[in-house]
Amino acid sequence: MSPHEGQEQVSPTFIPRHVAIIMDGNGRWAKQRGLPRTDGHLRGQDALRATLRAAAEFGVEYLTVYAFSTENWGRPKEEVDALMELLVSAIHSETPDLMKEGVRIRAIGDLERLPEKARRSLMDCIEETKHNKQITLILALSYSSRDELTRAVRGIVSDVQRGVLRPEDIDEDVLSRHLDTASFPDPDLLIRTGGEERISNYLLWQVAYAELFFSSVYWPDFGKEALREALDAYASRERRFGKTSEQIQLED
Ligand code: FPP
Repeated sequence: MSPHEGQEQVSPTFIPRHVAIIMDGNGRWAKQRGLPRTDGHLRGQDALRATLRAAAEFGVEYLTVYAFSTENWGRPKEEVDALMELLVSAIHSETPDLMKEGVRIRAIGDLERLPEKARRSLMDCIEETKHNKQITLILALSYSSRDELTRAVRGIVSDVQRGVLRPEDIDEDVLSRHLDTASFPDPDLLIRTGGEERISNYLLWQVAYAELFFSSVYWPDFGKEALREALDAYASRERRFGKTSEQIQLED
């Protein structure tokens, strides 16, 4: 079989179940071309569509993308407004294809901070796609890991105060269950595009054992081939979860 025929090139045994992406470089992509930053975000939507399709085709079950960080609220108002409008228009235009392709949409982050219209569109899309089974696309919106952890701690304290949780029963599982990601497995692979090599307050708890892959490609140029490269790199790594290489080989 030709190594270029889609899925075959990446060994199915080593497909990460959950891929998280920091979609960086939209602004620089636009600047390079003398375009407004918002054009970069618009092309970022195309890249997300292509990457989501490819991920589903490769057999990835969960894709979590950093669409808007807590820190992004500090960007110029015109850019924040444009990103929120893009979210609404993307949901409207993409939902029919999401339904056809079996994509379930979920979101993490402080969604209360989203403008009412964006939040309503998002919630409608989550409801409409909730039975889809091919892949789950998790949008991190108004999200930062420290904010998520802070909200989780508040939730835990409130459970203790209500008498439904004893302090001595708080363990890693309890904390995980209070995070926005409670119903998803931890990411196996974290990809950051755009050439920077930082985690930027993204899924800090959840990526404890994830493999990291940094790509110099600006997000609007990301897609199937770039994802394949990241999955190939992932497949070639040995994940030891703190154990020795010999122990891992014995388990196989
Ligand atoms: C980071 O690039 C990207 C963002 C803050 C926004 C991500 C949004 C999209 C990819 C649009 C599609 C998503 C949805 C859900 C409709 P940057 O602006 O920080 O780039 P720079 O580092 O080059 O300035």
